[in-house]
Amino acid sequence: MAADLVYSTPCILCPLILLLLLFYSFNNFSAKTSAPPSSLSNTSEMISPNIPVAVKDDHFCNTSTDCTNSVHKDLHRKSRIETMEEGLARARAAIRKAIRMRNYTSYKKESFVPRGSIYLNPYAFHQSHIEMEKRFRVWTYREGEQPLFHTGPMNDIYSIEGQIIDELDSGKSPFSAKNPDEALAFLVPVSIASILHFIYRPYVTYSRKQMQDIAEDYIGIISSKYPYWNRSGGADHFLISCHDWAPDVSAANPDLYRNFIRLLCNANSSEGFRPERDVSLPEFKLPRGKLKPEHIPQPCNNSRSILAFFAGGSHGSVRKILFKHWKLVKDNDIQVYKYLPETLNYTEQMSKSKYCLCPSGWEVASPRVVEAIYSGCVPVIISDYYVLPFSDVLDWSKFSVHIPVSRIPEIKTILQNIPVEEYLEKQRRVVQARRHFKLNRPAKPFDVVHMVMHSVWLRRLNLRLPI
Ligand SMILES: *[C@@H]1O[C@H](CO)[C@@H](O)[C@H](O)[C@H]1NC(C)=O
Ligand SMILES: *[C@@H]1O[C@H](CO)[C@@H](O)[C@H](O)[C@H]1NC(C)=O
Ligand SMILES: *[C@@H]1O[C@H](CO)[C@@H](O)[C@H](O)[C@H]1NC(C)=O
Ligand SMILES: *[C@@H]1O[C@H](CO)[C@@H](O)[C@H](O)[C@H]1NC(C)=O
Ligand SMILES: *[C@@H]1O[C@H](CO)[C@@H](O)[C@H](O)[C@H]1NC(C)=O
Ligand SMILES: *[C@@H]1O[C@H](CO)[C@@H](O)[C@H](O)[C@H]1NC(C)=O
Ligand SMILES: *[C@@H]1O[C@H](CO)[C@@H](O)[C@H](O)[C@H]1NC(C)=O
Repeated sequence: MAADLVYSTPCILCPLILLLLLFYSFNNFSAKTSAPPSSLSNTSEMISPNIPVAVKDDHFCNTSTDCTNSVHKDLHRKSRIETMEEGLARARAAIRKAIRMRNYTSYKKESFVPRGSIYLNPYAFHQSHIEMEKRFRVWTYREGEQPLFHTGPMNDIYSIEGQIIDELDSGKSPFSAKNPDEALAFLVPVSIASILHFIYRPYVTYSRKQMQDIAEDYIGIISSKYPYWNRSGGADHFLISCHDWAPDVSAANPDLYRNFIRLLCNANSSEGFRPERDVSLPEFKLPRGKLKPEHIPQPCNNSRSILAFFAGGSHGSVRKILFKHWKLVKDNDIQVYKYLPETLNYTEQMSKSKYCLCPSGWEVASPRVVEAIYSGCVPVIISDYYVLPFSDVLDWSKFSVHIPVSRIPEIKTILQNIPVEEYLEKQRRVVQARRHFKLNRPAKPFDVVHMVMHSVWLRRLNLRLPI
């Protein structure tokens, strides 16, 4: 029963081979074609062609001498962008090979090898992650000052925004480019949540204009000062925001943002979220000074007493429907609360529940998905049009349940009809997936920062410059 529920999975990596070939050979990217500035084709570098994969092939030579001393004799001049594109071509080839061989090629010892059904294609993902670690460098523009730029909320529900901006902006991230010329992608370090916090004060207007103007001004500055925006039409540029309003940032000037990558918590495909371009961010509700939600570690077994649990405010239409059907039904099976009674502890309730209901609130995402994953509780995504985080890589159907809003009245039957073995499998896979929702500062391979960056990396892999 639950199995036939439809996921809105934008398959970027699942038929990766297809997609890469598609994007790669047809180059059907619909960017504004702007001729690359001549300065780019002129930044000629001495590089060695025909370097085999898995040697240090992405060492970008600068003006210094060591390049000419290369072991390779037949040097010829190439622009830096060509060199980068060659690196990407090798990455694509390595990913295709990994898919074919069902194994990886790595230049270092791999501490973790993704395997199992939670991945759409574990080989493609693993190789792609290896290639990303090796090659993906991001430049964070230096323009602008805190608090509207270069920082964002580090706690509470928008924290993923501040944490990732801070990680990339710190200069300590393994993803940080030393200079913009070696960058494969560019962070526009505008914090929408900070703009809302500091500019919309008092909070008396729903007009998005100030927010839109600030972001557009920023892009105006960096695109006139540097060649990077124009050469790709913004297609290798991204912005991170968990704020509900963030999708509207591009509404006033759709042309400017046509190719831009927006990393959003509010990933509503019915409101302009484009899964092939934009990136869905998981929402983290971080307690002050913490990097993970409160949770109680539990072994995986079938001893949880509550079938399904939810507690939260009546935000948005989905929860109204949920409350209408389930708020007053208080058996041990379905526990749905608007306000949790003082005798109950939210974290403990989650750890006692088999399934944790994650209905959309004011917007599609809910921090409950991450909380459930930490609690070893199988998330039940109750939403329409929600593009789940990392769905290019992860097969959410294996470790969660999706219930469309129209089937809210059937929650109990749907969950009861999932056989025990299938539940236990899902629970085990929730624990397996947890690694990808861990927030480390500094970031570690396969953690949530790497997953977010991997989502951007995939979109960059599908692009070829100059366009
Ligand atoms: C590019 O390089 C060519 C040949 O080296 C030179 O003639 C031309 O002036 C350069 N263009 C720019 C914009 O630097
Ligand atoms: C150029 O390369 C040298 C040697 O690898 C390095 O020490 C130096 O920092 C590099 N300069 C720039 C501007 O990247
Ligand atoms: C996969 O590759 C690794 C490292 O390259 C190697 O150690 C391992 O034996 C390979 N596994 C298979 C099944 O070929
Ligand atoms: C990028 O394009 C815009 C609009 O065409 C132009 O005003 C700007 O000067 C260009 N930037 C650079 C660095 O050439
Ligand atoms: C499941 O885990 C709980 C918590 O450790 C334990 O108390 C319980 O005995 C276990 N149940 C089974 C059936 O193993
Ligand atoms: C809920 O329970 C957890 C773990 O038992 C505990 O750390 C936390 O302080 C409790 N929260 C409240 C609000 O009592
Ligand atoms: C998603 O977008 C649709 C279309 O605008 C809207 O009706 C729906 O309420 C949105 N979902 C949420 C949870 O905001």
